[in-house]
Amino acid sequence: MKGIILAGGSGTRLYPLTKALSKQALPIYNKPMIYYPLSVLMLCNIRDILIISTPRDIEVFKEMFFNGSDIGLNISYASQDKPRGIADAFIVGKDFIKEDNVALILGDNIFYGYKFEQKLINAINNNKGATIFGYHVENPCDFGVVEFDNKYNALSIEEKPKQPKSNYAVPGLYFYNNEVVEIAKKVKPSDRGELEITSINNEYLKKGNLKVELLEKETAWIDTGTYEGLLNAAKFIETIEKRQNIHIGYIEEIAYKKGYINKEKLIELSKSLIKTEYGKYLLKVANGG
Ligand code: G1P
Repeated sequence: MKGIILAGGSGTRLYPLTKALSKQALPIYNKPMIYYPLSVLMLCNIRDILIISTPRDIEVFKEMFFNGSDIGLNISYASQDKPRGIADAFIVGKDFIKEDNVALILGDNIFYGYKFEQKLINAINNNKGATIFGYHVENPCDFGVVEFDNKYNALSIEEKPKQPKSNYAVPGLYFYNNEVVEIAKKVKPSDRGELEITSINNEYLKKGNLKVELLEKETAWIDTGTYEGLLNAAKFIETIEKRQNIHIGYIEEIAYKKGYINKEKLIELSKSLIKTEYGKYLLKVANGG
């Protein structure tokens, strides 16, 4: 399976923070926001990754990750000349996807959860058409919303409905078979002028090929769309790191634990960051700590 991180958008809801900078490059505690979705794809055992961003911002991500080989990945880049919507990622990314299945994660979605990695791998292994997630929220109107029958089969998905049919939002992590490319090509722009991911999910739902997995309450799905959300995300990451010694989004550590890089490489990577707690943590991991 291949992976796409969509890190585009104009970020106007965070102005002036994002006036000249990509939202997905902003810091969340001690690392750029995009590290978190990248780490989720890595937990899914995905190594071929396409980062899509705006023509202005794509250079920042190239500078951040180059070709990904330092952490055992194969990262490529594409730019979306206009923010045409999430579903456009499959059109921009079609030459990258080729004949494969594909995971899409939004560059501003942060996840953390107990046994999350296993849940992701099971979702991929069981995926027949599309697999998406449902997460209970208080403000469903801000998201794609999935309605269920009493056996938790999806009945409908609506994009930012004024009168939501449930409290289950659809987070920005989606797994698809290769059909998604053809489906994306046929999606018509919504009232807000975007190719909606919800239209793709509805197409799979219509064909009976959509699976919705519920994320437990113990899983954190963190919104970074507002000043407050950004700050809370940073505080959350800091708190669980300092209080519980749980380290989230350390891409070099994941690469090491997955066997993509060896101990010597991890030590080398940690040395370039050694003035920081981040680098010291990587060194500790390399030394078995
Ligand atoms: C997008 C999707 C929405 C999804 C959300 C998750 O919304 O359109 O279905 O629930 O991402 O972050 P937007 O990027 O417009 O907030």
